[in-house]
Amino acid sequence: MLEPPPPPPPPPPRRLVVVSNRLPLVLTRDADGRLVGRPSGGGLVTALLPVLRDRGGVWIGWPGIVDHDDEVKAALVGAAETAGYRLAPVALSAQDEAGFYFGFSNEVLWPLFHDLQSLCNFDPAYWRSYCDANHKYAQVVVAETAADDFIWVHDYHLLPLASELRRAGVTAPVAFFLHTPFPPLDIYLKLPWRFALLRALLDYDLIGFQTLRDQRNFTQCLRALLREVRLTNRAGMAHLPDGRDVRIGAFPIGIDANAFQRQASSPTVQAAVDAMHAELPNRELILGVDRLDYTKGIPLRLEAFRTTLRRHPELQKRITLIQVVVPSRDDIPEYRDLKTRIEQLVGEINGEFTRPGGRWVPIHYIYRALDRLDLIAYYRAARIALVTPLKDGMNLVAKEFCACSVDEDGVLILSEFAGAAAQLQHGALLVNPYDLEGTADAIYRACNMPQSERQARMRVLRRAVSRQDVFRWVNSFLEAAIASDLDAFPLPDDYLPSAEAETAYWQTEFAE
Ligand code: ADP
Ligand code: F6P
Repeated sequence: MLEPPPPPPPPPPRRLVVVSNRLPLVLTRDADGRLVGRPSGGGLVTALLPVLRDRGGVWIGWPGIVDHDDEVKAALVGAAETAGYRLAPVALSAQDEAGFYFGFSNEVLWPLFHDLQSLCNFDPAYWRSYCDANHKYAQVVVAETAADDFIWVHDYHLLPLASELRRAGVTAPVAFFLHTPFPPLDIYLKLPWRFALLRALLDYDLIGFQTLRDQRNFTQCLRALLREVRLTNRAGMAHLPDGRDVRIGAFPIGIDANAFQRQASSPTVQAAVDAMHAELPNRELILGVDRLDYTKGIPLRLEAFRTTLRRHPELQKRITLIQVVVPSRDDIPEYRDLKTRIEQLVGEINGEFTRPGGRWVPIHYIYRALDRLDLIAYYRAARIALVTPLKDGMNLVAKEFCACSVDEDGVLILSEFAGAAAQLQHGALLVNPYDLEGTADAIYRACNMPQSERQARMRVLRRAVSRQDVFRWVNSFLEAAIASDLDAFPLPDDYLPSAEAETAYWQTEFAE
């Protein structure tokens, strides 16, 4: 009998082209007009950097400077030589920065997608600027890509990019991943451009969300607003009237857990941790690390810490909160007001509890970006991480803390409203950030938790974080992008908490 012919070899992998609002470095000019670069902040860059380093490819985005010239291009070519992938800049003007970045992206979509519609500024000029800027990104993508590339667009700044690319004749597959939450229908409906944006999203071939919650919100909007779209495969596929199919899925993003763990175990970090403990002896360190953002729940967290100290005076002098805040979007009034509010609260709380001559200061407030090793040293030195966003797509800080807790005795207090809660609910102490007393109770419980429980919980967390790392996220996303059948989605059960597992937590809560 003849042997069956061998299967055809798999097609060569496509080159990865990542498009995001920002490049991984921000260029500015110093007082002498010289260009200086610093790493970009935020979860998107933390997650994608190891992916591009691993796979190579092209990263297209804005270098954060508006006076764009040949010097900027040359600086990026230089940076790319050491990075191992190409950096292609999008030139934005000062008007684009105001209307597209600060305006539509961060005064409309950012608050709306985090359920904070009262903070939205629905200025029609912002919408026009958003469309113009997306057109500029598309022009760079067209110039930089070929038909056999895989184009992967990221985040809310670039929702209409696929439409622009299709209009320009791009035929390569174009996929999208939203790093933020997607809001429920009744909130999404507030958006004056709700139809245009939903339709634009359907020009992608694959749309990925952080959690099933976001995927469900999105498909509910499709059902309600675009009746011509038919959803099948448990709402994992949208069939369009023109015959096209769009895949929809949830892909919880991860971190490069091995790298964090390795660095947390390094002698440099160990020395920094020892120095911190020597400076603050006999102290439980509680850590908050966030970009300055009203979605992160920093004022409520400070209030909850104050409540803890008031309700449990025996913890005074025993615990110190280290709150690290990285500056962000400081041209937007809400962000400036938030900074003032945080500074006021830190002052009030330190004023309430600090005693003359005493060496205990309840809150240490750090307002700057930290070097990676310094940040890791804080993660490792802290006994408790307080990660209490009002709403968050994922929240990588929670995962980074677990990966760095190499002694396996840290306690993660995590907001129910962080995307990470779906995966980390079994090891973390989940809290409602609006519930000051509940959060204070969780802090108290964490301070008094026996070592055996801390270790058992942290082992569960570390296992989840290292199994569901950023490389698995990329692989699962790219495999879903090429799978011919959505039922062949290569997501094992432990990767994505099922809808039942996601809701089980709430059912237990409500049953109490
Ligand atoms: P977001 O993307 O909204 O900022 P994430 O928690 O997902 O929120 O990601 C924040 C990222 O920024 C993490 O990778 C974290 O390590 C980094 N980061 C946060 N604060 C600082 C800081 N002060 N210095 C350096 N990096 C920081
Ligand atoms: O999804 C979070 C996010 O908006 C990312 O897109 C970005 O990397 C990060 O926050 C930082 O924000 P910005 O680029 O506005 O400084």
